[in-house]
Amino acid sequence: MNIRHFDKPFEDVTDMFVLSTKNTDYCIGIIYDEGYVSHVYYGKKLSGYNFERLMRINEYPFGKAGKERERCSFHDMLSHEYPSHGIGDYREDCLSVETAAGNCAVLPLYESYEVIEGKPGITGLPASFGSNDEVSTLVLHCTDRMLDLHVDLIYSAFYDNDVITRSVRITNKADEHIFIKKVYSACLDMDNKKFEVLSLHGSWARERHIEKVDLTHNKTIVESVRGESSHQDHPFLALVTPNISQETGEVYAMNFVYSGNFRAGAFVDQFDSVRMFMGISPEDFKWKLLPGESFESPEVVMTYSDCGLGRMTRTFHDFYRQHLIRSPYLHAKRPILINNWEATYFDFDTDKLLDIARRASELGIEMLVMDDGWFGKRNDDSCSLGDWKVNEDKIKGGLKHLVDEVNKLGMKFGIWFEPEMISPDSDLYREHPDWAIHIEGREGIRSRNQFVLDLSRKDVCDYTYEQVASVLRSANIEYVKWDMNRQLTDIGSSFLPADRMGELYHRYVLGMYSLQARLLEEFPNLLLENCSGGGGRFDPGMLYYSPQIWCSDDTDAIERLSIQEGTAIVYPLSCMGAHVSDCPNHAVGRTTPFETRGHVALAGTFGYELDITKISKEDVDMIPGQVKMYHQYNDLVREGDYYRIASYSENHLYDCYGVVSKDKKEALFTYVQVMGRVNYKGRRIYLQGLDPLSEYTVDDGETYTGDVLMNAGLLIPEISGDFKSRLIHLEVKNG
Ligand code: GLA
Repeated sequence: MNIRHFDKPFEDVTDMFVLSTKNTDYCIGIIYDEGYVSHVYYGKKLSGYNFERLMRINEYPFGKAGKERERCSFHDMLSHEYPSHGIGDYREDCLSVETAAGNCAVLPLYESYEVIEGKPGITGLPASFGSNDEVSTLVLHCTDRMLDLHVDLIYSAFYDNDVITRSVRITNKADEHIFIKKVYSACLDMDNKKFEVLSLHGSWARERHIEKVDLTHNKTIVESVRGESSHQDHPFLALVTPNISQETGEVYAMNFVYSGNFRAGAFVDQFDSVRMFMGISPEDFKWKLLPGESFESPEVVMTYSDCGLGRMTRTFHDFYRQHLIRSPYLHAKRPILINNWEATYFDFDTDKLLDIARRASELGIEMLVMDDGWFGKRNDDSCSLGDWKVNEDKIKGGLKHLVDEVNKLGMKFGIWFEPEMISPDSDLYREHPDWAIHIEGREGIRSRNQFVLDLSRKDVCDYTYEQVASVLRSANIEYVKWDMNRQLTDIGSSFLPADRMGELYHRYVLGMYSLQARLLEEFPNLLLENCSGGGGRFDPGMLYYSPQIWCSDDTDAIERLSIQEGTAIVYPLSCMGAHVSDCPNHAVGRTTPFETRGHVALAGTFGYELDITKISKEDVDMIPGQVKMYHQYNDLVREGDYYRIASYSENHLYDCYGVVSKDKKEALFTYVQVMGRVNYKGRRIYLQGLDPLSEYTVDDGETYTGDVLMNAGLLIPEISGDFKSRLIHLEVKNG
């Protein structure tokens, strides 16, 4: 059992709970008869729980001597599990309400607990899952007795994974409504270990670059108020000890299973304690909870590592592969695809697509994906989103004909949609202008010429679903790229009353999730790839629906090094959409060797995004070799343990990362020399993750023990030129 309850373990502690995973413990104490829910400890696994003095209860200015005199300072000092608003904890709180009378204070106090084997789902939201043997759940039932507001703090401990997930459920049992103005999902109070904050920041075509700043008394906040998790900020935050490395140092990390507005942050308080938190952004959020109704928050995935960032990364990778991604493709090699976006943009027709497919099939490429521009009268990005009818002027002979022809070549067929959007120049908009998210009387702000559909409305979701599904029913379509190319503005819905307008952002996300859930129900074998102007919605919420997400619209192999490093610090390589594209690269204008582009794309789902009928013969000739390379290594890339050896974004010279099979008998490392150097001899790289005593044979036939490769290193012979790369494959022969 990985959740234990101790009854009255210490004098002022009425109940204590310990959630254990293989290498960590998480302890919660209920203190005083009032039932304050206090955080006691999270970190390395312990052999005993003698916390009485460590909890410092006697030091609070609210002990036996003066309970009533100074409750305020008590709240402001206590390590809380779930601090609430307006009761004296002036630090960032997790829960804030507005009662019918206009008050905002709320104080949920412990009532009882429940332990559930396994893990309950969260209504309408993506969430991790596991069997009764893998996960146990603790629910702390807390109540604000005056408001009759019930707050359940839900913790699930995944023993083997070293993961604890957290979410909350709020139920209004009073006989009048209440507004929830802020509801975070997790909070962590602890001592400061001179923490630094590691986050992932970016922009369009520059997503998830790793950033590290000192943790100070000023709050460090990462937040999206863009309606999606966003290119700019990412729903991930880690506190790390100084000089954190891949193999040493402590890490407390949180990742949000949610794809809309979020806020995460951390700061040091007046007593130099640390608070870290994560949840839905309270900006423009206000949820009306009627009597008897519940609100369930999305979940936060938490992990602690005392073995550096590498351990944290591998924890997230395993956890998402085992307990979040559900697709039948999760453990399957994905078809090597060729996407026509960077090949043709909007300028294509059946003949052009079949030319590409014919050539691609000869070279071993397995799927053609028809991107934007096949529907309505869309020849640029100014129109037709919402009109999901095949444009037979371009797709001559119809969609089924095209798909059948592609299938005859032995290839699968995939298609692009942007179901959440509506172009002002579309039949749909002309018929239903009120279906766009908009504010009555205010001219809508366009982005990429488009508006966003109001997915808080069931009728809009139903219509959208039917449009997408009927296209999928019309031909043998085995893959969908689901795009979302703008962020939200003009937050208004013609469906929601004024006192529910603050629900729109969250209801939009729920509507979008319901559409994807429905799609997978009707088409369970569909390979779904999410996308949002590149990687603007690359988060665990979307991974619940799709096993892969397009990582970035920047397909340049060198730019991708930092983007893929930041992405892979949390997400498994199996879900990272990566393609070989044309040069000079369309995003940055850089020219890199075709070989390097292949090696970098190999770290993801792998595919092509170029006009195969136009690239040089030299490049075309390399494709069969790359196809072979993908088939040879993808099992390892998809399922192996990831190790980061060197970071180009840190050293500005070269990048190196690798995957090691779970049984440590095989490994593949990728080395990219970004900048060549005159008279620079070969470079030694220090591998990680190998079995120290096994004998590994490297491609050149040399054999080394794992400890030599990890401690003395492996020499990469001098390479001349920029942007050059090498794959290093290691195998234990007869092992
Ligand atoms: C987004 C995607 C691209 C492509 C275009 C089509 O930018 O990220 O890959 O699909 O939309 O408009």
